Amino acid sequence: MAVDLERILRPVDNPLKPFEAKYMTLASGENMVVRQIDRDDVPDVLRHIEPLLHVERDFYDVVAARVYAELLAYYRHRMQDEYVLVAQVDGELVAVVNGREVTPGLGMSLHTIALRRGLRVGAHAFAAKMEYHIDTLGHQEVLIVAESPIGFRRWMIEYQLEKRFDTPHELGGVPSWALTKELFDRARSTLVVGRRPVPPEMLAKAEAKILPPSDPPTPPADLLAATRSLYDPTATALIAQRTLLGGEADNA
Ligand SMILES: CC(C)(COP(=O)(O)OP(=O)(O)OC[C@H]1O[C@@H](n2cnc3c(N)ncnc32)[C@H](O)[C@@H]1OP(=O)(O)O)[C@@H](O)C(=O)NCCC(=O)NCCS
Repeated sequence: MAVDLERILRPVDNPLKPFEAKYMTLASGENMVVRQIDRDDVPDVLRHIEPLLHVERDFYDVVAARVYAELLAYYRHRMQDEYVLVAQVDGELVAVVNGREVTPGLGMSLHTIALRRGLRVGAHAFAAKMEYHIDTLGHQEVLIVAESPIGFRRWMIEYQLEKRFDTPHELGGVPSWALTKELFDRARSTLVVGRRPVPPEMLAKAEAKILPPSDPPTPPADLLAATRSLYDPTATALIAQRTLLGGEADNA
């Protein structure tokens, strides 16, 4: 009985052509490999997404929560036709991108999240996933949304995406934007970088282990935490203060 139900709950994936790994040189001079991962690799990525749930800055919290859910659903067979690409520098995880195929011609971009800032790793990883949709999967267009102003600048403005406002996007049902093949062709010479094949030793290092990000985004430091814990070891005063600030003192 349980086995039969699982056959109904578990989507049957349509086989997608694999993403051929590529690499590019960042402004820091380091090489970054972008490659596809399998279901089995997902737990190694999730542990580095989870801490970002607590970073409000630049909407990391919202995006991390959604990425976590999408990757977990992929791992547990609860997502239709999803793929996940990771970007690594010397094995270190620096970005994650994912998406899925909606129909044979239409792609759905899900998320891009950068775990190292200031080197356009997110922009390069996004370009690699658009290349996957258009060149490998043969999609005519990819539906995209942005959850953060930086995302809007990177995708909508840099690629000059077209509005598809009559189509709700899978991410929250908000109006979609689209990258068409024509727009992607126009962006190829400026926004899409990288080479293939990846040198075998570079790829082997990336595949050997997904190493933790060395400088991931973090929540602001709580500078008074040590002092507070000295005088308020059970945090009673802190909880009372937070309740008061939240306007819930009457209910406390
Ligand atoms: C959107 C995102 C993927 C872009 O990644 P990216 O291309 O590697 O770009 P960065 O985030 O490092 O930098 C973006 C800008 O913020 C600046 N910046 C912000 N924080 C920075 C930091 N700690 N160090 C250096 N630069 C920083 C950069 O200078 C850059 O400015 P520019 O656009 O003039 O180049 C990334 O910002 C991210 O993961 N954001 C949170 C999740 C998100 O919004 N995802 C997209 C959903 S639509």
